[in-house]
Amino acid sequence: MKLNAALPVLVATLLAIATQSAALKVGYYNDKKCAGVEPIVRDEVYKTLNYDRSKGAALVRLFFHDCWVKGCDASVLLNPSSKNPYPEKVAGSNIGLRAFDVIDKIKARLEAVYPGVVSCADILAFAARDATRYLSDGHIDYAVPSGRLDSVVSRAKDADDTLPSSTASFPDLKKNFGKKGFDVEELVVLSGAHSIGVAHYPSFKDRLAAPGNEIDAKYQLALRNAAKNKSRTVANDIRDESYAFKRDAGYYTVVTGRKDYLNNTYYHNAMDNRVLFKSDWVLRTDAFALSKLKEYRDKPKEWDSDFADALVKLGKLLPAEGKGLLEIRKKCSAVNTY
Ligand code: HEM
Repeated sequence: MKLNAALPVLVATLLAIATQSAALKVGYYNDKKCAGVEPIVRDEVYKTLNYDRSKGAALVRLFFHDCWVKGCDASVLLNPSSKNPYPEKVAGSNIGLRAFDVIDKIKARLEAVYPGVVSCADILAFAARDATRYLSDGHIDYAVPSGRLDSVVSRAKDADDTLPSSTASFPDLKKNFGKKGFDVEELVVLSGAHSIGVAHYPSFKDRLAAPGNEIDAKYQLALRNAAKNKSRTVANDIRDESYAFKRDAGYYTVVTGRKDYLNNTYYHNAMDNRVLFKSDWVLRTDAFALSKLKEYRDKPKEWDSDFADALVKLGKLLPAEGKGLLEIRKKCSAVNTY
């Protein structure tokens, strides 16, 4: 590209970086006379979830995995390309990530109305909030500060170096969250997201051989039976499992309502030793974390509100200034070319 042609893009990028360093703001797109942004995101998320409720969990996890790795910058959405064959999306720690199609659809709708205005990182933050509201029947709701930008950098290694492992010990999890400015209480609060969604065999296979004090024996038996089919996913929350699984697990809680209901059942499961990942179980091994598990089991409304606060805080993790270029992508799965 000639210098003359490159100049406007360069200026736009520099401006974008300057904007990013300013604080995020609730109503950012309203101020830009684009009041339709959040309603469009909500409409598309609700339409999708009315059809396939399971994608809500996927959107919440996508948001976590985006923000945890070098800030909320949509780096998790980039596809492999000849210039960048190993973006975050292909990282082992991103096993099972999905619902990229939902974000792409929202982006296409927004580009048609407000071209070049809405970042993919903001779309993800709005979509996660809308999924949260939908899956909790409106119990969890919050305003999303916005004004994020999209990164042109995305490396699988960064995801693998940064995201917590399902086999992590409590000290490792505490350290991992501490590095991002999140304390043990917030670790316990955010882990409650595992009341929704599913997991693949590699994420829970260690639990099939876990010692008796770490997992309820019947739940472990049900997991072993389910794992005979290694391509089968298992619900993060036993509440959402099949009748046969629950029978094996001796889980007789009568559940009314739909799967993927975002509430505090995770904490009931935790206290009953029926959580899926080792990283869930280890929260019981710390006295303070254990006291919080009990608190959220007994106070569902407190969890709703603390979870909302923690998601807002998660959304404030931004890419470090000057580390890589930022832009507003035209498509969420690819960087703009310049
Ligand atoms: C505390 C550390 C965490 C660990 C070790 C962890 C680990 C995992 C793993 C291994 C899976 C299953 C992946 C698969 O096999 O498909 C999963 C699923 C999920 N996680 Fe976490 N996670 C953590 C924290 C979080 C947080 C903070 C959130 C959101 C606020 C979250 C939301 C979810 C959701 C919604 C799913 C289900 C996704 C789907 O159904 O597509 N997790 N997590």
